[in-house]
Amino acid sequence: MTKIFAHRGSFGTHPENTMAAFREAERVGANGIELDVHLTKDNQIAVIHDNTVDRTTNGSGEVRSLTLDELRKLDAGSKYSEKFRGERILSLKEVLSWMKGNTLELNVELKNATVEYPDFEVKLLQEVQNSDLEDRVFFSSFNHYALKKMNEMNPDIECAVLYQERLYKPWDYAKTLGAGSLHPHFPNTSEDMVKEAQKNGFPVRVYTVNKEKYMEKFIRAGCAAIITDYPEKALRIRERI
Ligand code: G3P
Ligand code: CA
Repeated sequence: MTKIFAHRGSFGTHPENTMAAFREAERVGANGIELDVHLTKDNQIAVIHDNTVDRTTNGSGEVRSLTLDELRKLDAGSKYSEKFRGERILSLKEVLSWMKGNTLELNVELKNATVEYPDFEVKLLQEVQNSDLEDRVFFSSFNHYALKKMNEMNPDIECAVLYQERLYKPWDYAKTLGAGSLHPHFPNTSEDMVKEAQKNGFPVRVYTVNKEKYMEKFIRAGCAAIITDYPEKALRIRERI
């Protein structure tokens, strides 16, 4: 069965990477959520997509130049819609703690492809290991050095190769990193590639699939998962196929 992951939570209908978006994903019956993480000034792991808070909150500045307490004072909902005013930037710890009350899987995307965060990988692994949720968490990143480092430190937590363009035999490349799955961009992904990768033991989770015709295409292809802003739509399609 193709699993349905809510991208940044249910981002199509709720403000990205907030508790409102994660709760909505759980409510509609998604199998998991995807979120993005950065390091704060005081070396805490914050759940936010961009390097700065400007686009998604009422504040400004780089995540790396603000403490977690400063980030938490910002409003992360009202730019999306006034009805979400009061949503906050979360720490990864808060999300992990919330996950103890549900059965969702969690895809943590390390956003350190362009920013240098010393020991980000060490800190991230510690938090996940301390949560006792290792079997429901996996990592992905466009920063493949980070994936390799994560895998060397703890080969038991799955790492997924996140990439945009087509790769030649991506499963062979993934092996060089110690990664266990592939997260390709959907327009550059064919049914044949999905089948071949999965035959070679590499589950494929395509991102970010928002149109129903593509949801159907990848569910029919037997993709391990679809990452989407609209999990409710993908779930309906999965139901009827
Ligand atoms: O995990 C897939 C997707 O989240 C990668 O792109 O920019 O939405 O983080 P982005
Ligand atoms: Ca992401």
